[in-house]
Amino acid sequence: MSLSIEQRYKPYSEWTEDEISKIKENAASSPWRSEFHVEPPHGLLNDPNGFSFFKGKWQLFYQYFPFGAAHGLKSWVQTESTDLVHFKETGTILYPDTELDSHGMYSGSAMQFGDKLFIFYTGNVRDENWDRLTYQNGGLLDSQGNLEKVPHTLIEKPEDVTEHFRDPQIFFYNGEYYAIIGAQSLDKKGFVKLYKADKDNYKSWNFVGDLDFENDATSYMIECPNLVFVDEQPVLLYCPQGLDKRVIDYGNIYPNMYKIGQTFDTKTATIVNPSPIQNLDYGFEAYATQAFNAPDGRALAISWIGLPDVTYPTDRYDYQGAMSLVKELTIKDGKLYQYPVEAISSLRQSEQDFTNLSNTNNTYELELTFAADTKTELVLLADKDGKGFNITVDTKEGAVTIDRSNTGEQYALEFGTSRSCSIDKAETTASIFIDKSIFEIFINKGEKVFTGRVFPREDQTGILLQAGEVTGKYYELKY
Ligand code: FRU
Repeated sequence: MSLSIEQRYKPYSEWTEDEISKIKENAASSPWRSEFHVEPPHGLLNDPNGFSFFKGKWQLFYQYFPFGAAHGLKSWVQTESTDLVHFKETGTILYPDTELDSHGMYSGSAMQFGDKLFIFYTGNVRDENWDRLTYQNGGLLDSQGNLEKVPHTLIEKPEDVTEHFRDPQIFFYNGEYYAIIGAQSLDKKGFVKLYKADKDNYKSWNFVGDLDFENDATSYMIECPNLVFVDEQPVLLYCPQGLDKRVIDYGNIYPNMYKIGQTFDTKTATIVNPSPIQNLDYGFEAYATQAFNAPDGRALAISWIGLPDVTYPTDRYDYQGAMSLVKELTIKDGKLYQYPVEAISSLRQSEQDFTNLSNTNNTYELELTFAADTKTELVLLADKDGKGFNITVDTKEGAVTIDRSNTGEQYALEFGTSRSCSIDKAETTASIFIDKSIFEIFINKGEKVFTGRVFPREDQTGILLQAGEVTGKYYELKY
């Protein structure tokens, strides 16, 4: 069902019980529901928001439109976790219900202040001509789920940006609170603004400067910037929409990129000596990644497995989008690694040596090793003729390629059906998580990552070693 603008922006209270129960029923009938990833019961999930730690629990909110697979009037849905693996929806929804966010509670971040969780978000507003207005708003959430919104914007839109100014990320650095916000300049280039709070006052923000990270300035907008610190090095994760592919190649409609700096100079708003821009993920969809430094110092990240402006096979079941696993960020030999948090191994039910299997539940983990100087072709989600999701690890040429062209229902074909990345010509490992219609592949413990969706047919449940050799383990996973 495709929704008109009126339907997408109609007040939540005007949806009838009958309409809602049809949507719920339809979503529940999908053959592709995941087992151990967060996804919406119905409606559309996009960005991770407010990823934080509050009152002894991990908090993860998601951007949400409840009434079908469409981008409409957005709210935030709260989920909580004690282990970063099992997330439970609490029933708390933060609604767009003020003049400063009437057309959507857009993305943002969260941090505990006192006994409340401070929510820092963008209010999306459309005026009577349907022109976009953007406000950087705040609110305090208590542990009962009541959000008290600050009745004025916290950061005024600067004169040198368009109404594409959004997604504040609050972070704590050297004893002070800072925030970065994604922006579009008046000549339509993406950049990032840095602010600093008055001492311990999350309501009072001062502009520091435009973040200098040797931005190539070819994108037209930077969404969802996040700055985290890994071994004290600043890591900027960001989504430069429209980035020129001559700067760095990428396959998806919109890219999620990163840079690692040596140090962060707060006075001059500079990420000092930044690395070249890098792809955060090589799969078909990982976007709007949100990261924060946990109270124990770890840098934790989670991505939306989905992309703006893409239609998915689940759309006809009135839902779309999922969250990735929570990944810990580390730096080794100057390279960023992303790897699921340790607790993910608590999902393992049974262990066996890797072998061909004809009938799995499509909820498993593979831990594989590919010897140097070999080329191995695996087919996951394979049918009895060996057609499925192909993964080729070539340690002779130094490349990993995934191909979903034979995996059930196809979509987003204009962006191609395969993706690859280079690897060292050496022994290589892959940790592969399959969850019904989601895959996450971590090459060499997270040196390169492929995240994405596949929508297999019912008979695509096998694992097949088609060529080459591999050793490793198969673990069945259960939530
Ligand atoms: C990224 C994004 C954000 C925005 C939100 C709206 O996917 O476009 O920039 O805040 O989604 O849903």
